[in-house]
Amino acid sequence: MTKTVNRKPAKANGRTTNDADTKRTAKSSKKRSSHFQEGNLPQKSIVGIGTIILVIAAVLVGFHVVPAFRMPFKDRALQEGSASSKERKVNTQANGVEKKGSTTKSKGMYAQDLPKEFQNFKLSVQSKLSMKNIKENNHQMKIHELKHENSKSHVHAYVVENFLSENECNSLAMVHRAHVSELKKQVPIICFDSVKSFREYLKDAMLKIKVSQSDFTKGTTCVNETFSAKLQAHFKWSFSTAFYPGESKFSTIFAQRIQRATGLKLENGGKFQITSYPKDVGYKNHTDCLVNHGEKRDRFATILVYLRDVEEGGETKFPQLGISVKPRMGLALIWNSMNSKGECDPTSIHNAAKVVKGHKFIIQRWYYYHNFPSLGRRPEEPRLPPRTANQPRVSCDEYEQGSCRWYDEWNYDHLLDYTANLQNLI
Ligand SMILES: *[C@@H]1O[C@H](CO)[C@@H](O)[C@H](O)[C@H]1NC(C)=O
Ligand SMILES: *[C@@H]1O[C@H](CO)[C@@H](O)[C@H](O)[C@H]1NC(C)=O
Repeated sequence: MTKTVNRKPAKANGRTTNDADTKRTAKSSKKRSSHFQEGNLPQKSIVGIGTIILVIAAVLVGFHVVPAFRMPFKDRALQEGSASSKERKVNTQANGVEKKGSTTKSKGMYAQDLPKEFQNFKLSVQSKLSMKNIKENNHQMKIHELKHENSKSHVHAYVVENFLSENECNSLAMVHRAHVSELKKQVPIICFDSVKSFREYLKDAMLKIKVSQSDFTKGTTCVNETFSAKLQAHFKWSFSTAFYPGESKFSTIFAQRIQRATGLKLENGGKFQITSYPKDVGYKNHTDCLVNHGEKRDRFATILVYLRDVEEGGETKFPQLGISVKPRMGLALIWNSMNSKGECDPTSIHNAAKVVKGHKFIIQRWYYYHNFPSLGRRPEEPRLPPRTANQPRVSCDEYEQGSCRWYDEWNYDHLLDYTANLQNLI
C-alpha cells in the first residue's frame, strides 16, 4: 500500500498532528481502490449492509439534509478518536469518490429513513471551560489553574486533586490490565502511516530490515501477523483500551462529575480511553486537534486523570507553556486545545515523558467543539486487514509526531476507507 502522495506539509504549514489516540495509517484511497478493482482484496471482507446504510445516511446528513454540517464525508461525522493530518488528506481525496457513490445510493432516501441518532441529532457547541469547585462524596474538590506566561496562547490548564478516588483509580487500572493481558495473548497487527515512517521506526528499533510497500497487507498499511510477531519483540508502545458512554455505570458518574467541574457537556464527549505506559515508553509532541485546519468537529478540550503515582518520569509536558505535570493518583489535568472560535491552538502541544521508573496509567476523554451523531458511540469493527476476532492493533503514527500505541479496537477509519472502496465497485 502506498502512502498518501504529498503528505507532510504537516510541519511546513504549522500543523501538528493530533492525537494521543489513533493516528491511523495513511492510505491513499485512490491506490486502495485500484486494489479493489484488481480484485486483490479478500472476498470475505464484506462489511455489513447495515453499516453501508449508516454510512449512506451519514452522507445524506453531511451533504443534503443538514447543510450546516456539510463536510468531507469520511470525516469526523462518523468517527472520533482519530484526526491526524494524514487522515484529513485521505479524507479529502476520497471525497469525490464518496459523493459519487452517495448520489447513486441515496436515491429515494428521505430524512425519516435515517437512523434515529441522525434524525434526533442536535448540534452542541463547546466553546469554553467553566471550572467550578465541586463537592463529591463529602469531598471538596479544589481547582488550581496552572498559570503560564505565553501571551500568544489561548490555552488554560487546570488540575484538580483527587478528582477520582483511590478506589475508582484502582478499579479502572485493574479493568484495563485485565483486558490488555487477555488481548495480549494474540499478536497485534502492526500498522504504520507510510513505508518511510516504517523505516524510521525500524531504525529506532535498530533493526536492519529492508521494507517496501509490498510488505503491507494489500489494501492496508499494516504488516501481516508473521511480520508483526517479529517486530513485536523489538518495538515499544503504550496500551490503550476504550469504553463508551453508557457501557458502565461509572461512565455516567464520571461524565457527570466532569460536566459539573468543568462545564464540558455530556453530549460533546467521546469515548473514555485508558492508557498505560510501561517503563521507557512515552508519547511524542502532538496537539489534540488539527492546527490550521478549520474542522469544528475536533477536540476542544481534554481531561486526563492519572490513575497511579509514577516513581520517576511520565510527566505530561507542554513545552510552549512551560508546564509539566507529575502523575499522581486521582489528579485530573484539564486543558482546552482550541480557542473560543474553535481554532486549534498550536501552543497546546504536549507530550508524555518516558516513564523512567514505575508504570503509568491514565484515563482520558476528549470533548469536541461541535458534536456529531456518532460521537461517543462504539464503532462497528472493520474486517480489514485479515485478522482474527479481537486481534488488537498497534498504530505507529507519523514518525515525527507520533509514537506506537496498542489498541484494543480498530479505528473506524479503516472501515470507512473500506466502505468507500466498496462503493467504488458499484
Ligand atoms: C508476511 O509478510 C512477510 C513480509 O512481507 C512475507 O515475507 C511473508 O510471506 C508474509 N506471510 C504471510 C503468511 O503472508
Ligand atoms: C517536544 O518539543 C520540545 C520543544 O519544542 C522539545 O524540547 C522536546 O524534547 C520535545 N519532546 C518530545 C518528547 O518529543
